[in-house]
Amino acid sequence: MNGQARPTLLDRYGSFLPLTGATPRLSLGEGFTPLVHAERLGAAWSLSNLWLKLEGCNPTGSFKDRGMVVAVARAVEAGARSIVCASTGNTSASAAAYGAMAGLEVLVVLPRGKIAAGKLLQAQAAGATVLAVDGNFDAALRVVRELAAQEAHPVTLVNSVNPHRIAGQTTAAFEVCDDLGRAPDVLAIPVGNAGNISAYWAGFRAYRGAGRIDSLPRLWGFQAQGAAPIVLGHPVEQPETVATAIRIGNPASWATAVAARDESGGLIEAVSDEQILAAYRDAARLAGVFCEPASAASLAGVRALRAAGRLDPDALVVCVLTGHGLKDPDTAAGLAAPAVEAEATVPSVMAALGWQERR
Ligand code: F0G
Repeated sequence: MNGQARPTLLDRYGSFLPLTGATPRLSLGEGFTPLVHAERLGAAWSLSNLWLKLEGCNPTGSFKDRGMVVAVARAVEAGARSIVCASTGNTSASAAAYGAMAGLEVLVVLPRGKIAAGKLLQAQAAGATVLAVDGNFDAALRVVRELAAQEAHPVTLVNSVNPHRIAGQTTAAFEVCDDLGRAPDVLAIPVGNAGNISAYWAGFRAYRGAGRIDSLPRLWGFQAQGAAPIVLGHPVEQPETVATAIRIGNPASWATAVAARDESGGLIEAVSDEQILAAYRDAARLAGVFCEPASAASLAGVRALRAAGRLDPDALVVCVLTGHGLKDPDTAAGLAAPAVEAEATVPSVMAALGWQERR
């Protein structure tokens, strides 16, 4: 079984993926992520059937691994020696890891100063060449598209404009349906470059086409208020949000995201940084799930729409938590209570806790 002890994502869903007999069956153990019923969090928000898809449990800590394994495998099959991507951080961490595994040169172009600390370290640790540019993600994506089109140094683009990325990411929709035994009523998801919402919709449709599910979910996408081009209906020149992963002003998959919204009877709306951070805290404290800020946009949106009476309390809702909280320690530290100092003795610890000694 391809050197792997257990079936891999490519084994499990190969019949739905663009693989050939010559595609190397790579794996770092991507996919098979938990779908957790968040009972306390749901109760706090008056939702009885709230589920969290923990994509932070992927090997590099985000959903990007699902698409990257397919994109890198196909690049290797095609004889590529070098891959490139622009990124707000997670795509670069994933490209660096899968590229390292496959022995490829990895180039990542990142907006300088706007990448969460953990993500940057992941790319550097894996030996990727990191190019920090003065410009946002949209500018970086323009650069790598042109870089991949030139011929002096052949390099394969592994952003989600590469269709193998989107194909791999459809597997998350398959897993949700396989775990629930049906499609959810609502699937809520953060939207940045808009590839993932497009991939989920393609996945649900493929699964219904194959007779694996009877119904399709409504897709609810959420952008950060300061980076909400799809909601506004025009590109945003200077996107800004605490959720740096989705700090994107001109999404590449804009049209397919709008199609996913409209064909599913769903919506794409904006949530504020305050709403995002409140949901981020609630996920950690009421569900035990430490996600990154961008991921909490899905939760923040569901919470707001429930509060506005636009969501049935018993609806089966899946929120996609796209990346792990440890990637962005600075945001977490900004919200953390300081440690309580004490000597390494029981009386000192009890005193620090304000506990009385029993007489
Ligand atoms: N959540 C996280 C944690 C992300 O890293 C991203 C995108 C998204 C949501 C949005 O997904 O772009 O498919 O709409 N991150 C990309 C990156 C842009 O470079 O890592 P999307």
